[in-house]
Amino acid sequence: METVIVKFSDIDIRNSAGGKEDHPIDAGSFQGKIAAAGKILKEGGLVAFPTETVYGLGADALNPQASRKIYEAKGRPSDNPLIVHISNMEDLGKITAKVPEQAKKLAAEFWPGPLTMIFEKSPLVPLETTGGLQTVAVRMPDHPIALGLIQAGGGFVAAPSANTSGRPSPTTAEHVAQDMEGRIPMILDGGPVGIGIESTIVDVSGDMPMILRPGYITKEMVQEAIGPVALDPGLTAENEAVRPKAPGMKYKHYAPKGQLILVDGEREAVQAEIIRLSKEAAAKGQNVGVIGTDETWGSYPYGIVKSIGTREDEETIARHLYGVLREFDEQDVEIIYSESFSAPGIGQAIMNRLLKAAGHHVLTAPKREG
Ligand code: TXA
Ligand code: MG
Repeated sequence: METVIVKFSDIDIRNSAGGKEDHPIDAGSFQGKIAAAGKILKEGGLVAFPTETVYGLGADALNPQASRKIYEAKGRPSDNPLIVHISNMEDLGKITAKVPEQAKKLAAEFWPGPLTMIFEKSPLVPLETTGGLQTVAVRMPDHPIALGLIQAGGGFVAAPSANTSGRPSPTTAEHVAQDMEGRIPMILDGGPVGIGIESTIVDVSGDMPMILRPGYITKEMVQEAIGPVALDPGLTAENEAVRPKAPGMKYKHYAPKGQLILVDGEREAVQAEIIRLSKEAAAKGQNVGVIGTDETWGSYPYGIVKSIGTREDEETIARHLYGVLREFDEQDVEIIYSESFSAPGIGQAIMNRLLKAAGHHVLTAPKREG
C-alpha cells in the first residue's frame, strides 16, 4: 500500500480557524486536506494524525472492521482497548451510558486537552473498539488537525498511538512513517508534537476516581479539580499479580531495542555510577548509550551520550523522551543507562514511561563517601 504523507504548514494550522472557512474547499487548503483524510476514515480506512500528546492512528470508532485494521497495522493484542476521540461535548453523551458529575468537572477544566476518561459505554460503541470491555475511554484532543479530522471523519475516531506495538510512541510524522509506511494510506504531518507523552487516563466509572496512566495532567491537578483521586496500585506494585487496570499498561512497552537500565539514588551518586557502568560496558566492546540531562550530559565520558532536556523544566524531558529512545535504536545501541526522575508533577509520568521502557530494570547507585 502506498502511504501518502500530507504536510501542514504552521500557516495552514493557524488559518484553520477551527474549521470555519467560508470560501470553497480546494484540495491544497487546510479544509481540503482534512476532507480527504476524513473520507478515508468514513470508508473504513486508517489515517495517522498529530495530537498535542503523541501521533495517533485513527479509524472510525463505530465501525468494527475499521477498528480491527488498527490492531493489524500495529500488531497490537486485541484485548487492549482503544481511546475514542471526540470534538465536542454533545458527542460524549452518545457513546457513554452516563457522565458522572466529576467527569463533567474534569472535562470543563481539561478538555480539549491531554486527559482521557473511562466511562460505561453505550450500545453505539462496538466491542471491537473497547477490547471486549463494557467501558469506553474518551478524549477530546487539543490540536486543530485532530479536531478537524474527527469532525470530517464522522465524529468518533478510535486512535491508539501510531507506533508498532512495543515501540516508543511517535512524536513526529517521521516516527510514524518509520513504523507505518506501506501499512496505512495516509499520514497527516503537523510537525513535532507539543507534549510528547500520552494523555493522563482517569477512570471515572467507579465510586472513587482513579488514575490508570499518569501524564501531563498530574495527580495534583486532578485533585485540585475534583478532590481525592487514587493511583492504580497496579502501576507501582512490585508484585506481578497486581495487574494495572488499563490493559495497555501491563505490556513491556515503549521499549527501545537495546536494554535500558535506570539508575536511581542521590544525584551525584547516580552520575558516578553511570560513568562507572558505561566505562565497564565500553571496555567490554558494547555499544553503550547514556541518557543525561542538560545539567549533566557533558560530564559523561563514555558511550553515546544524549540529553533529554533540562531538570529546570521537566516538560522538555517529556517532549524528547521517545525521540531519544528511537535515536538510540537507529544507532544500534545495545545497552542504555539513564538517570531517574520522580514525582511530583510530570516527573511521575516520565518515570512511569522510563520504567516501562526498561522493563522495570532499576539499579540503586551506592552512596558516596564524604
Ligand atoms: O495521548 C493519548 O492518549 C494517545 C493519543 C493518540 O490520543 N493515545 C494513546 O492510545 O496513548 P493508546 O492506545 O496507546 O493507549 C490507550 C491506553 C491503553 O493503555 C489502554 O489499555 C487504555 O488506554 N484503555 C483504553 N480503553 C480502556 C478502558 N475501557 N479501560 C481501561 N483502560 C483502557
Ligand atoms: Mg500506545
